[in-house]
Amino acid sequence: MAARLCLRGSKMQNANATAIVVGASSGIGKAIAEHLAAAGWKVGVTSRKLENLTEMVTRLGNRVVPKVIDVDDPESTREGLRALADELGGVDLWVLNAGTGILNRDFAWEPERQTIATNVMGFAAMTDVAVHHCIGRGEGRIVGVSSVAKKRGHPFTASYSGSKAFVSLYLDGVRQFLRRKAPKVSVTEVAPGYIDTPLQQFDEAFWVVSAETAAKQIVAAALARRKHAYVPRRWAVIAALLSIMPR
Ligand SMILES: NC(=O)c1ccc[n+]([C@@H]2O[C@H](COP(=O)([O-])OP(=O)(O)OC[C@H]3O[C@@H](n4cnc5c(N)ncnc54)[C@H](OP(=O)(O)O)[C@@H]3O)[C@@H](O)[C@H]2O)c1
Repeated sequence: MAARLCLRGSKMQNANATAIVVGASSGIGKAIAEHLAAAGWKVGVTSRKLENLTEMVTRLGNRVVPKVIDVDDPESTREGLRALADELGGVDLWVLNAGTGILNRDFAWEPERQTIATNVMGFAAMTDVAVHHCIGRGEGRIVGVSSVAKKRGHPFTASYSGSKAFVSLYLDGVRQFLRRKAPKVSVTEVAPGYIDTPLQQFDEAFWVVSAETAAKQIVAAALARRKHAYVPRRWAVIAALLSIMPR
């Protein structure tokens, strides 16, 4: 039986809720995991290296359950996430956050290959497990982390923009699939602007907010079962402009 979740203002209720945050060792994912754990959730947290989670595990104790997952290996990702979901006794909220972004000024192959492996195939592998888990339970929430970059190609991050366009459109299809198959499962596509994390490398970044601010807004969007959310909200204006501005 899934934990009953509700919102009172921005406060999360229910101490028996469970979540998995894929890519929880740093930045936005780490802030989401900490935000949920502070509200009493039990959170499965993943990284490619166990040591990247040691400090969090020491600090949060049995509120977090660590697992090594490298989404670049889709089969071991599917296996690992299913095992983690079993360990938690079921998952109310899936946060599909692991991702990479590399400034590639020379259009070198390796950064392109890496970005597409992680953000496209890796994202599909995480989604596969979340979708089938939620279908099995007949309920749940899935959040996928895209980016405002989905709106527009960029000369030095072509694979990043392309991969985030994939994430957003993929989630659109997944949402429609689940509407027929398991209507109580919600799919939230979040598109952050510039968030202050190790991944953010643009000197010209503006409206930068902390990972903690982003985390609170992402969790609120998921709990409210929003289909789409810009983070922070004002990025919706930039996204609309990017759609109509000349190249
Ligand atoms: N920061 C921004 O301005 C911004 C804006 C829009 C969207 N986003 C998106 O937000 C998400 C989180 O990014 P962030 O800014 O928080 O970056 P970050 O601080 O670099 O965190 C990335 C997380 O993903 C994990 N990860 C990376 N590659 C992985 C792989 N192959 N397999 C498994 N886990 C992997 C990392 O874990 P380990 O390294 O420990 O394995 C880490 O926990 C990404 O999807 C990113 O595209 C960020």
